[in-house]
Amino acid sequence: MAYMWITGLTIFLTQILTLLVSECRAKVPAIIVFGDSSVDSGNNNFISTVAKSNFAPYGRDFPGGYATGRFCNGRLPTDYLSEAFGLKQSIPAYLDPMYSIQDFATGVCFASAGSGYDNATADVLGVIPLWQELENYKDYQRELEIFLGAEQEKEIITEALYIMSLGTNDFLENYYAIPGRRSQFTIQQYQDFLIGLAEDFVEQLYALGARKLSLTGLPPMGCLPLERATNFMHPDSCAKEYNDLALEFNGKLEQLVAKLNNELSGMKVLFANPYDLLLQLITAPSLYGFENAEVGCCGSGTFEMGIMCTPDHPLTCTDADKYVFWDAFHLTDRANQIISSYLFKDLKSNFL
Ligand SMILES: *[C@@H]1O[C@H](CO)[C@@H](O)[C@H](O)[C@H]1NC(C)=O
Repeated sequence: MAYMWITGLTIFLTQILTLLVSECRAKVPAIIVFGDSSVDSGNNNFISTVAKSNFAPYGRDFPGGYATGRFCNGRLPTDYLSEAFGLKQSIPAYLDPMYSIQDFATGVCFASAGSGYDNATADVLGVIPLWQELENYKDYQRELEIFLGAEQEKEIITEALYIMSLGTNDFLENYYAIPGRRSQFTIQQYQDFLIGLAEDFVEQLYALGARKLSLTGLPPMGCLPLERATNFMHPDSCAKEYNDLALEFNGKLEQLVAKLNNELSGMKVLFANPYDLLLQLITAPSLYGFENAEVGCCGSGTFEMGIMCTPDHPLTCTDADKYVFWDAFHLTDRANQIISSYLFKDLKSNFL
């Protein structure tokens, strides 16, 4: 009797242990990224566009010190998130021939600097539109299935964390910069148009098997150095109109996220909102050890980005860790790290 009891107990304990081990195993086997320069890890290097950054001083603080095509001196928030989830320390770009499906199996980036929700936004600089990012993702699924077999492929597709980070360009590079969309839509209508496109995109991702999604909100766009420098009403201060717009659009995104969580059964969508933290970095930089949050490190810091941010610009700062912005439009490695550790808390509790 005692023997049987012990055997029964052993089996029971073994079952519990097996359950615990499988529960503890990382439930995010890969991170899959869509969006714009906030998360593009180098896809634009391989297309014909001026929206590139695969030259010095970009990448000077990246592991190895070389320019990858990231619009940053170092790593992007998605790279830091990948590391935080116990995956690679940086997420490779899908179009980069240096990497293969073996690398992409634990993380892949389809994002393209200069892109947006709106096809017309990608057209401005001839970059990869969002629908094409999705087509590339479909190719990825097929390659992954060949590489791992259908069962393991499905597991990765289902358990992966999908990150979308875009929208700033739809407003700043498209709506307010060139006439097309402004003659068709009021700003209210344009926001709703973009929300509709975001919804379509998430539904397509869902139909393709995605179940864990982080949808990133807009930053305080009016505080980007370029927008400050061109704020003729109040020189050098944040453009309030653009910050208000970002807040309003984020409210709509948050509503969309609630709707998607209701409608897409089995899918969890998280609204990742860096707005408040970023505004705090910008308004109280010294609290975070920054010395400058008004201009970028590169060049004069007011307008240079991409090819304007040249290797030997005499004004480029020496220590980018003291700056919130790396160029006139993009954050430094250190700011990205702070943002990502903030976002990771929510992601971890929802997806791990
Ligand atoms: C964007 O372009 C793609 C490819 O041409 C097309 O299928 C899609 O309908 C377009 N989206 C919109 C909203 O026009």
